[in-house]
Amino acid sequence: MTKKKASSSPIRHVWRLCSKLTIFLCVLLCLLAFLMLQLSQYSKLQTPSTRTLRDDHFEGPPKIAFLFLVRRHLPLDFLWAAFFKNGDAANFSIYIHSEPGFVFDEMTTSSHFFYGRQLKNSIQVVWGESSMIEAERLLLDKALDDPANRRFVLLSDSCVPLYNFGYIYNKVISSPKSFVDSFLDAKECRYNPKMSPAIPEEKWRKGSQWITLVRRHAEVIVDDDIIFPVFRKFCKRRPPKNLLKRSRLLNFLAIDFRFLFPWLKPHNCFPDEHYVQTLLAMRGLEGELERRTLTYSSWNQSAIREKRRIWHPITFDYADANPHKIKEIKDINHVYYESEHRTEFCRINSEITPCFLFARKFTSLAAIRLLNEGFLSP
Ligand SMILES: *[C@@H]1O[C@H](CO)[C@@H](O)[C@H](O)[C@H]1NC(C)=O
Ligand SMILES: *[C@@H]1O[C@H](CO)[C@@H](O)[C@H](O)[C@H]1NC(C)=O
Repeated sequence: MTKKKASSSPIRHVWRLCSKLTIFLCVLLCLLAFLMLQLSQYSKLQTPSTRTLRDDHFEGPPKIAFLFLVRRHLPLDFLWAAFFKNGDAANFSIYIHSEPGFVFDEMTTSSHFFYGRQLKNSIQVVWGESSMIEAERLLLDKALDDPANRRFVLLSDSCVPLYNFGYIYNKVISSPKSFVDSFLDAKECRYNPKMSPAIPEEKWRKGSQWITLVRRHAEVIVDDDIIFPVFRKFCKRRPPKNLLKRSRLLNFLAIDFRFLFPWLKPHNCFPDEHYVQTLLAMRGLEGELERRTLTYSSWNQSAIREKRRIWHPITFDYADANPHKIKEIKDINHVYYESEHRTEFCRINSEITPCFLFARKFTSLAAIRLLNEGFLSP
């Protein structure tokens, strides 16, 4: 038998040689891939330190980076163009995250301010999912490349400014703190115990997505590679009702008897309402925050009571953007946080100021009215 094996050798020999060669190539490729991974991680680790270096050496007028997170085009570009026209070009920069491949040029916007401002590496965003925070992080990352950018304002495609450029610039630049709406999320069951111990429950926060950051905090968010993956894994929207119907018993237990089965609580987590707040709390940075947002939105109280069927804030149309209503918004100087029994008087450097510099959600007609009635002045 052994002889027989030996006699069939020429083909076998070639075969063996081939397989050895293949294994050798595989090992080589694996090694190469491993090396590349190490290198990319090394360069990732390098980024923050080079940034800090640039940070320290920066002199000149500080810029505000306006970061637009939009679905496609910028429907209120005409209003923002009027706003930016009154600013010094050296005092601001603009970045847009829109759907991949969308280009801002003469065809898609009426204002040169937005030409070519779209991120090249933008991703497909699903509203209410972690891709939204990923897009925010991409915007911050890109804006951090310019050391002149000292403040970072996140805006949606339906946001409007409530004052002219100079007023907003002075308010935002003069505050050494970030503006991050942040409060304890006691009633709802969005915290998923599986996030522990990476995210302890006492650090879990909730708040508006629309933030204004100082540079240091923008860096903390971009450099975070510990908390973000936990969010991506465990902070998810509840699947739509029709999907839940299949497991009706589980759903029934989870919703109607949740006090008996706390582990069955349906987590309906919206990453963008928790991520930045929770991350900054975990890093012990809450003392460096004004724990409120600069962007006004009006929630429909009756809809909230009706089992929160409507998740979106009220939209302002032409009739709602009237002088009386706008003045009402501008006059607000404190916010009450029910879950903490905390009344936040809106201050910048301990001086009481209007709480809101921006507002949402505005239609094009409402924005036209703001413009025509000259609301963009202090
Ligand atoms: C631009 O920035 C400079 C330096 O911070 C400031 O003095 C000036 O008022 C700013 N201009 C406007 C229009 O905000
Ligand atoms: C608020 O919600 C209620 C109930 O869903 C609805 O009837 C009402 O029109 C809404 N109000 C506004 C201003 O959107």
